Amino acid sequence: MPEDLWSAVDSYFGDTLSPMDDALLAALADSDRAGLPQIAVSPNQGKLLELLVRVMGARKVLEIGTLGGFSTILMARGLAAGGKLISLEYEAKHAEVARKNIARAGLADRAEVRVGAALDLLPALVSEAPFDFVFIDADKENNGPYVEWALKLGRSGTVIFVDNVARAGRVLEPGSSTQVDGVRRMVDFIAREPRLEATAMQTVGLKGHDGFALLRVK
Ligand code: SAH
Ligand code: DHB
Ligand code: MG
Repeated sequence: MPEDLWSAVDSYFGDTLSPMDDALLAALADSDRAGLPQIAVSPNQGKLLELLVRVMGARKVLEIGTLGGFSTILMARGLAAGGKLISLEYEAKHAEVARKNIARAGLADRAEVRVGAALDLLPALVSEAPFDFVFIDADKENNGPYVEWALKLGRSGTVIFVDNVARAGRVLEPGSSTQVDGVRRMVDFIAREPRLEATAMQTVGLKGHDGFALLRVK
């Protein structure tokens, strides 16, 4: 099965180049124990997020969609000295699990989880802008508005990373789900927005066939 091969190669690179440490393993284990869905980014993609934050020298990171804090921990590790990450999460239970995972990873001083619907929480972030890096990974229906907010809360040079844009190719089937339609509205918005330059890459690996978009504010 090609999926097995994709997973094996993903695990080979992840296990050799960026093996998970105790804090990351515990974050996933406690998320499972609490019954959270197993939809965190793969370890390899998480390391890519950490590296992007670090190579940018980012000091302010915004995450939309915390879950158990797996991607939060990795990006917080990439922050420059004195940096800060704010992560928005709708489910109080997810936020509670994430806060414990973040604290155990020794990152409570720089990563904060705020509970609520992201569209309700984003306006209050204007006073904390500009953000250097924004990771969008929540309800796909609102991807378009999230990118618009990232623009509002960003600056020239801000990088926006959007998870789950290919969905095993279903992105090519308008109307197949509200999530796909949300992704497509976002793609249309980006294409028409002269302040953004963007690309999207397909991925295969532990999470099957999916992809991410990488945007930069001009
Ligand atoms: N970034 C995480 C995975 C996030 S899963 C990781 O890689 O580790 C998506 C999360 O978005 C879920 O926890 C879900 O509860 C949350 N979510 C869904 N709708 C939301 C909304 N409107 N506002 C904020 N968070 C939302
Ligand atoms: C799913 C996967 C994700 O990475 C995500 O952010 C949300 C949902 C999923 O497989 O359903
Ligand atoms: Mg995701």
